[in-house]
Amino acid sequence: MRQVLVLNGPNLGRLGAREPEVYGSASFDELAGECRASARKLGLRAEVRQTDDETELIRWVHEAADGRIPVVLNPAAFTHYSYALRDALAMRTAPLIEVHLSNPAARESFRRTSVVAGVADGTIAGFGLMSYRLALEAIAELAGRDEPGGPGRAGEAGEPSGPSESGETGFR
Ligand code: DQA
Repeated sequence: MRQVLVLNGPNLGRLGAREPEVYGSASFDELAGECRASARKLGLRAEVRQTDDETELIRWVHEAADGRIPVVLNPAAFTHYSYALRDALAMRTAPLIEVHLSNPAARESFRRTSVVAGVADGTIAGFGLMSYRLALEAIAELAGRDEPGGPGRAGEAGEPSGPSESGETGFR
């Protein structure tokens, strides 16, 4: 089963207690359980992690790049200012979806900037836990193109459909 890392940044370990009117009442453990269940239904094995530490998050992003592992990432507040995280994500070798529980575009102005969005395949925001489910669906679709015997993108002129001999991923 293809692995996917579901990485979560600072303060998301406090879900349930943290501003439930914004982030909902589910705890982080509940979010993790739902991610694992949704992933399983999609034929993926989700490993769900959370850290308040930028260094640790960047180390996990490097691990994903080295292992060609797709990532669903909620960078939390790092979204808005961590160029170090963005630079790490720019080295990715597999699909990356940015997710948010809330809709940052509809909140304070500092949340309207994402330094991560430009290096992600896409962003899903504003749907609570469903943001993660939708992101996993996108990963299943994108990663399937990279699997031997997967749907591929045959016929889509000019688009690579997976890793080439030279090690290029075809995602980007
Ligand atoms: C968040 C949105 C961010 O602006 C905020 O800093 C978070 C959570 C979300 O999931 O809605 O910590 O990423």
